Amino acid sequence: MSLSYTELRRDLASSLARFLPKEEAVAESWIWLAEGLGKDKAWLLSNGSEAASGPDRERIGQWLRRRREGEPWSYLIGWAPFREKRWKVTPDTLIPRPETELVLEAALEVGRRLGVKRVVDIGTGSGILGVCMALETDWAVTATDFSSGALAVARENAQVLGAKLDFFEGDLLDPVPDPLELVVSNPPYVDEADRPTLQRELDFEPASALFSPDRGLHHASVLLFQAWDRGAKACVLEMGAGQGGDLCRRALTAGWKKAMVHQDLAGHDRVLVALA
Ligand SMILES: C[S@@+](CC[C@H](N)C(=O)[O-])C[C@H]1O[C@@H](n2cnc3c(N)ncnc32)[C@H](O)[C@@H]1O
Repeated sequence: MSLSYTELRRDLASSLARFLPKEEAVAESWIWLAEGLGKDKAWLLSNGSEAASGPDRERIGQWLRRRREGEPWSYLIGWAPFREKRWKVTPDTLIPRPETELVLEAALEVGRRLGVKRVVDIGTGSGILGVCMALETDWAVTATDFSSGALAVARENAQVLGAKLDFFEGDLLDPVPDPLELVVSNPPYVDEADRPTLQRELDFEPASALFSPDRGLHHASVLLFQAWDRGAKACVLEMGAGQGGDLCRRALTAGWKKAMVHQDLAGHDRVLVALA
């Protein structure tokens, strides 16, 4: 039976809507056609009645099977949006989340206020924080990760977006040379105990990018201690909902003079700003 591209897109939206909210399903169906088959809205408006080719139908069918298993669409397509840019992502990298823009905004504000010249992004993943800071400031930016796969993707994103920064592989602040001024990170912060209740899409992301011992607080706590110990002026960290009180206490215990929590639009604790 021949199926036009317009019908293929509509059928895809209905199939996706069996396991996704309807609006998301429709939005994804357009993205799949544009990104996967090179047939965007403009093309479909003029040529949508053309019969869909066998290989195109097969490709959409294969993706649908993977998506139904819970694989995030960003891994199917190979990119995710952040700060109005496209970022290459692979199963080695976390998929950027919109709330991480709050970390970026806080880091830019704090860094400008303190007049810093050097900043490090710890656990850079696809590179979003380090690369955006390199593009939006004249700071010397260093980005690290202990995953060589993630670093390769971050390097590629930096190159494609024209950002100049240094990359180091290693554990937290260990590979970063002194002096430190501003430490920024979206560290793993999910509590292992929450694993059974999480969306199944998270199963496809690297566990080492998500989970942290000590109720999700281990990586952030170590960073706060290391950054203070090495004389940083400020530390800006993403955190999980409800972690603000604990992390403020740990920041003050580490030696920081001030610790503040910024909440996201849903009213959840999201960013810790610690100042020396
Ligand atoms: C939550 S992801 C954040 C990725 C990216 N910054 C973002 O916001 O999308 C955490 C990142 O930290 C890295 N990571 C985890 N443990 C680490 C460690 N001990 N030292 C360095 N990087 C680590 C993971 O590989 C992952 O890329």
